[in-house]
Amino acid sequence: MERASAPEEFEMAIADAIAAPEAFGSSFEAAPALAELELGVGLEGDPAIAFRRTLGMFATGVTVLTTLKGESVHGMTANAFMSVSLQPPLVLVSIDRRARMSELLHEGTRIGVNVLEAGQATLSDHFAGRAVEGTSEPLFELVHDTPLVEGALAHLVARVVRSYWGGDHSLFLGQVEFARYGEGEPLLFHGGRYERLVRDHPHVFSSLPRELLDPILALGREREYADGETIMRIGEPGTELLLVVEGAVRVERPGRSLTLGAGELVGEIEVLDPGGGRIADIHAVGDVRCLAISRGQLVAALRSDPRAAIALIEVLAARFRETGS
Ligand SMILES: Cc1cc2nc3c(=O)[nH]c(=O)nc-3n(C[C@H](O)[C@H](O)[C@H](O)COP(=O)(O)O)c2cc1C
Repeated sequence: MERASAPEEFEMAIADAIAAPEAFGSSFEAAPALAELELGVGLEGDPAIAFRRTLGMFATGVTVLTTLKGESVHGMTANAFMSVSLQPPLVLVSIDRRARMSELLHEGTRIGVNVLEAGQATLSDHFAGRAVEGTSEPLFELVHDTPLVEGALAHLVARVVRSYWGGDHSLFLGQVEFARYGEGEPLLFHGGRYERLVRDHPHVFSSLPRELLDPILALGREREYADGETIMRIGEPGTELLLVVEGAVRVERPGRSLTLGAGELVGEIEVLDPGGGRIADIHAVGDVRCLAISRGQLVAALRSDPRAAIALIEVLAARFRETGS
């Protein structure tokens, strides 16, 4: 009998594993059950939740997978998408076995991968089965007999060439037949929520010209913090803008942190939207001297100098234009 070449052997092994995953107990069952998952120091509670949160630290883009179901379109939000190979062009998606999409995909089925743009979080919610009020029905374009979501940042059409066992998910490997991308910023998913690319710390007041900003900062009251002291906590109402005069502060958001030094402003967004609460914990790094300007003082300053109010609106409008929503 002719001996199979190495790639053929590999493919046969994979095919056997798909046909009878239980026969591959040595590799799959050897993995510790979820209950045995060891959590790092400081992580307590439900291991499944800790596992999800750990995975959530891996930032991804967001796609909507689309396929035709008879005459109608079925779409599903998925961030478990990866590129696999350039030659041949292959991509992979991981789909919950309970998802309707999982039943629609077989070898030979075409699937659209729509990489969402920063302003399409509502669309992502829509295709994740989350009720979103007032969303207009998405528009589709047919390419290679596959529906593609209009307005997405990038599109791929792939034909499913293999499917694999993936625990409570199924993995679908697709050979890409069509690809295109446009201009824009991607929608991101990190820590269980949508994020956007932030090139740097958001500047709102700090974008104002000095002659308009200085009179506002001059209203501030001086305040001091010792090394390590908490200056602001996530969730607290953001009723003050702080100017760091001496020392540095550490801004800590889940999964992201940065240090700001003398001359930087803290709480620029929250002070304009105090009901939304602080979005970061802020601690003093070394001894810190700040100027605190209350929202009341800010509003009074903007009233007394409408030039500053207009300049602020212009900064916010430019930012909206930048982010597209
Ligand atoms: C940001 C985000 C990413 C998601 N990623 C996946 C994923 O990669 N795989 C998956 O099976 N479900 C994922 N989901 C959940 C599905 O979108 C959701 O279960 C959907 O309702 C399944 O649709 P269907 O059952 O109609 O096919 C994700 C949801 C969100 C909000």
